[in-house]
Amino acid sequence: MHVSNEDIVAEIFAGLSYPQKQISSRFFYNDTGSDLFEEITRLPEYYPTRTENSIILKVASRIMSHENFTQIVELGSGDCSKISILLDALPSEKLRGVRYIPVDVSRAAILKSSELLAIKHPGIEIHGILADFMKHFDLIPGEGKKLICFFGSTLGNLTGKQETSFLSNLKALMKPGDQLLIGMDMVKNKKILEDAYNDQQGITAAFNKNILNVVNHIAKTNFRPDEFEHYAFYNAFDSRIEMHLRALLDVEVSSPHLAGKIDIKKGETIHTENSHKYTPSYIQQMTESIGLRIKGIYTDANNWFSLVHTH
Ligand code: SAH
Ligand code: AVI
Repeated sequence: MHVSNEDIVAEIFAGLSYPQKQISSRFFYNDTGSDLFEEITRLPEYYPTRTENSIILKVASRIMSHENFTQIVELGSGDCSKISILLDALPSEKLRGVRYIPVDVSRAAILKSSELLAIKHPGIEIHGILADFMKHFDLIPGEGKKLICFFGSTLGNLTGKQETSFLSNLKALMKPGDQLLIGMDMVKNKKILEDAYNDQQGITAAFNKNILNVVNHIAKTNFRPDEFEHYAFYNAFDSRIEMHLRALLDVEVSSPHLAGKIDIKKGETIHTENSHKYTPSYIQQMTESIGLRIKGIYTDANNWFSLVHTH
């Protein structure tokens, strides 16, 4: 399915016309956004990346050594550092039979990470796909024995409805023998969660505000990121961190693509991201309802993050 720029601009303006204004979190990831996310992953407060890395390192040989995967698909691959931990567990003769397929909306992420990966794992074939993983299931190859990876708890950035349709589409794509690994960030102490999205250095704030630069580029709007402040909190009722941008003054936004103006009142927010946090019972019930069978749920000593292994 082809999605035109017009459709994307229409989606952005529709989101900004709702009573609770919103912009989809997939617009975070232009070149600057991808770089800022990489910086976030190294912050002391942002525990998910290092926790998931430690889990992958612990179970990599268990997942990789008994199986002969010929296609490894990674959705929302980013800097590909997590797949590298899995590939390290593969002996070089097995690596030569593997095709790695990173799928991401960020061109910079695909190019940079593919170059690095080819140097780090010589012999592996890499076939990057620049696409929206919600829309382009048709681009994921059907042949071969597949391992599909969806790390980083990016699943948590989807709405409940998107999550169900996304996982059902993945399940429909999987043939007997194919496996799926999903990283999921778990419900935990509110302060730990909120600190992870309100870092001292302000990198998450810069990442959040950069979404307005991306929107300006795509929709020719005239947002000024410095007229907004970063606002992130844990919504315990919905088990999710919410990120918003709050207007510091009354703001009027225009675009040649828009007949009127977008009015944003001082104090009003634009909702830019949900980051759902999971519980063991939710994971059981969700995988069951999709028809995914659990091979293992791997976690860290604090149970802060889970790597869910299904087939
Ligand atoms: N998996 C990596 C990166 C997580 S950041 C990690 O665990 O560190 C989320 C990644 O998903 C970004 O690289 C972003 O560009 C990509 N992404 C977000 N929404 C996407 C979508 N709808 N389609 C494809 N890629 C998407
Ligand atoms: C990619 N995604 C799972 C990250 C998250 O934690 O929701 C993006 C992020 N947003 C703020 N910090 C990191």
